[in-house]
Amino acid sequence: MIDEPAIRTRDLAKRYDSTVALAGLTMTIPRGAVFGFLGPNGAGKTTAVKLLLGLARPTSGEAEVLGVPIGDRASRRRVGYLPELFRYQPWLTAREVLALHCELAGIDRAAWPREIADALATVGLAERGATRVGTFSKGMQQRLGLGVALLGDPELVLLDEPTSALDPVGRHDVREITRALRDRGVTVFLNSHLLAEVEQVCDRVAIVDRGRVIADGTLEELLRGETVRVRVTDLSADGRAAIARFGDVAEEGGWLTVRGIDAPAVPDLVAALVRAGGRVHAVETAHESLEDRFLRLLGGAS
Ligand SMILES: Nc1ncnc2c1ncn2[C@@H]1O[C@H](COP(=O)(O)OP(=O)(O)OP(=O)(O)O)[C@@H](O)[C@H]1O
Ligand SMILES: [Mg+2]
Repeated sequence: MIDEPAIRTRDLAKRYDSTVALAGLTMTIPRGAVFGFLGPNGAGKTTAVKLLLGLARPTSGEAEVLGVPIGDRASRRRVGYLPELFRYQPWLTAREVLALHCELAGIDRAAWPREIADALATVGLAERGATRVGTFSKGMQQRLGLGVALLGDPELVLLDEPTSALDPVGRHDVREITRALRDRGVTVFLNSHLLAEVEQVCDRVAIVDRGRVIADGTLEELLRGETVRVRVTDLSADGRAAIARFGDVAEEGGWLTVRGIDAPAVPDLVAALVRAGGRVHAVETAHESLEDRFLRLLGGAS
């Protein structure tokens, strides 16, 4: 069973009347990976998570979670979930919320005190266990939600926008928690539109837009290639055409930007510009950030 991937989907699709929320998702997420599922608002991220958890039924397609078909309750106990929008009973204390979820998750009562203390400590709420959650700030509620997701030592944790309400310290903490989970072999599925976030913590990424995956792979695969900016004058139209083979070319204010170029080809690019009569004044190279890549993909320029 342990050789099974954490998640496998085949053409998983969900339609709400005429709205295609997910258009056919096929992916395999190995165990132990931190997987970032990225996309703009309405892309289908939450829908994918709900299908994986069996909270919504697919219109077509199939998937397994921890080797078990979705919708089967057998895998639920081994999965932790932080929903996107949630509100706990405001009159309960943090410890009572966690106890309630221990009960819902069917955790052996003898283990509750340790489970609850561990969860509170992991999410930085050790001092707030006796505080009513109605008085919690948004960020504290999100930390508590994360604590709930970690109860019962799950093998897979699905986090839907875990840092949306958090300040920079909270975001840093969530990254640390995510890394600690990975070190324990837990698979993490992270929905986000915060690219820097994902870039710092995820091993693998899929970018989804309007229900479709438009790019996926490891971060290295996705961010392969450099971005080169060249300030060049006197370049002929033929010269411009000649450099198209190096990557995606854009021009603005006397600077050419070539994206997705292989690093060893940068001198060849400069030589091609010079051959075409261009006078090269400056050359700058940089790695493309995930944000640049994301915007470029969504812009359809790729
Ligand atoms: N219960 C529902 N009924 C009708 N349409 C829905 C429902 N849930 C989601 N949708 C639609 O499906 C599409 C995908 O929504 P989803 O919530 O999965 O997006 P998301 O990527 O999580 O967005 P966000 O970043 O805003 O959380 C949207 O067009 C949304 O309006
Ligand atoms: Mg969502």
